Amino acid sequence: MIIYFTGTGNSRYLAEIIAAELQDDCISAVSYIKEKQLGNFHAETPFLFVCPVYAWQIPHVFEAFIESSTFTGSKDCYFVLTCGDEMGNAGKSIAALCHRKELSCKGVMEIKMPENYIALFSAPSEEKAQEIITVGSQKAKEAARLIVQGKPFPPHHVGSVDKLKTSLVNPVFYKLVISDKKFYTTAQCTGCGACVKACMLRNIRLIDGKPVWNGNCTHCMACICGCPEEAIEYGKHTKGLRRYFLKKK
Ligand SMILES: Cc1cc2nc3c(=O)[nH]c(=O)nc-3n(C[C@H](O)[C@H](O)[C@H](O)COP(=O)(O)O)c2cc1C
Repeated sequence: MIIYFTGTGNSRYLAEIIAAELQDDCISAVSYIKEKQLGNFHAETPFLFVCPVYAWQIPHVFEAFIESSTFTGSKDCYFVLTCGDEMGNAGKSIAALCHRKELSCKGVMEIKMPENYIALFSAPSEEKAQEIITVGSQKAKEAARLIVQGKPFPPHHVGSVDKLKTSLVNPVFYKLVISDKKFYTTAQCTGCGACVKACMLRNIRLIDGKPVWNGNCTHCMACICGCPEEAIEYGKHTKGLRRYFLKKK
């Protein structure tokens, strides 16, 4: 059983490739999180969790979802982390999470996908993004082959800088950077409500036909990258930047 979390589609895309290879169920954690539901999952084959890297860790929201859900049947699991660059030492807290859930982690694989964090960085050109997706898709198929064979994922080298980023920078980053205060809409906004629907934390409401953010944001980029009018900005940084969203095939 594949359980994925996504803001802008990369993780869903790879989860669906692996699900097709394994002919296994592919479930979105986002719909559970949106409905504030816990999951009770049962599978006879290993669980696979697919999600983005947020500040060299799995997203705190997804970690909390796994923590509070139940997993019965198979005791084995794998993680595939999609990232714009690298996952740091995310494997350490995943190992601890699996231990608490009494799951045996058979590996964490990092797969590069196009950068979606336009609040701080920029997304690659369409052409470059396509190249990255092609390579990422091949790696996802390799992950599926290992899972079918019951083999562990290859070990991931972790250096001292990775350890620092994951253990020290991640909590500071969440405290100081992850906030919705800089989101606003431009005159292009039609009040269509796409951002309200896209927000997994139900943090956006329309007031007088315009979106208002209410202080509970995880910076998934679904609202800004999914806006059909490109009418959402984040401070000055996103002005003129390409939006990135990998839509369903
Ligand atoms: C809040 C946030 C933090 C991120 N932190 C990292 C990071 O530490 N390392 C990295 O390589 N990519 C980072 N990224 C990029 C995403 O992990 C990457 O683009 C991912 O594939 C997006 O997946 P999604 O489309 O399923 O949401 C970050 C993105 C966001 C939105």
